[in-house]
Amino acid sequence: MADKIRVLLSEEEVDNRIREIAGEINRDYAGKEVHLICILKGGVFFTCELAKRLTVPVSLDFMCVSSYGSGTESSGVVKIVKDLDQPLAGKEVLIVEDIIDSGRTLAYLIEILKQRNPKSIRLCTLLDKPERRVKKQVKVDYTCFTIPDEFVVGYGLDYDQKYRNLPYIGVVEQ
Ligand code: IMP
Ligand code: MG
Repeated sequence: MADKIRVLLSEEEVDNRIREIAGEINRDYAGKEVHLICILKGGVFFTCELAKRLTVPVSLDFMCVSSYGSGTESSGVVKIVKDLDQPLAGKEVLIVEDIIDSGRTLAYLIEILKQRNPKSIRLCTLLDKPERRVKKQVKVDYTCFTIPDEFVVGYGLDYDQKYRNLPYIGVVEQ
C-alpha cells in the first residue's frame, strides 16, 4: 500500500529559502571561490539547487558516507563509500548536507576533512533537527529550515531509499 505523505515544506517554500541562503553565501564569499562538498546521496538535490543560485566561482566534489546504525538511528561510525576526487588544501570548503540530526555523521566527517588542510570549512544544511543533537560541537553555518523531531522525506531524503525525488519535504504518516 502506498504511504501517505503530509507536506511539511512546499516546493515553493524550499525554493524561496534556498534562494535566500544562496544570497547569504554570495555575500559571505564575495571575492573568494567556494568548494562545495555534496554529501551523497541525500545532499544532491539541495546541492544542485543551491549551486545554481551561487554567483561566486564554484567547484564541486562529492563524497558518499554510510553511517552504520539500526533503523533511523545513526551510530557515528562512518564508512567512506566514495571519497572526494580533489584535495582540499587551501580551499574554502562548504559541506552541503540534507539534514543534521544527531550530528554524529558530520562530527566525524568534519574531523577527517580538517586534516586535509582546507583554508576554511563551513557547513550548510537544508534541514536541522536541533532537538535530536548528540554532538553539540557541530556548528551549522547555514540552515535553510529548523524542523521538529519528525522523520522527513523528499528533496533528497529517503525512507528505505524511496521518496528522494519528491520536490517538497514531507512526513510519512504511519
Ligand atoms: P546524524 O548522523 O544523526 O546527524 O544523521 C544524519 C543522516 O541521517 C542524514 O544525512 C540522513 O541521511 C539521515 N537522516 C536523519 N534524519 C532523517 C530524516 O528525518 N529523514 C531521512 N533521513 C534522515
Ligand atoms: Mg545524509
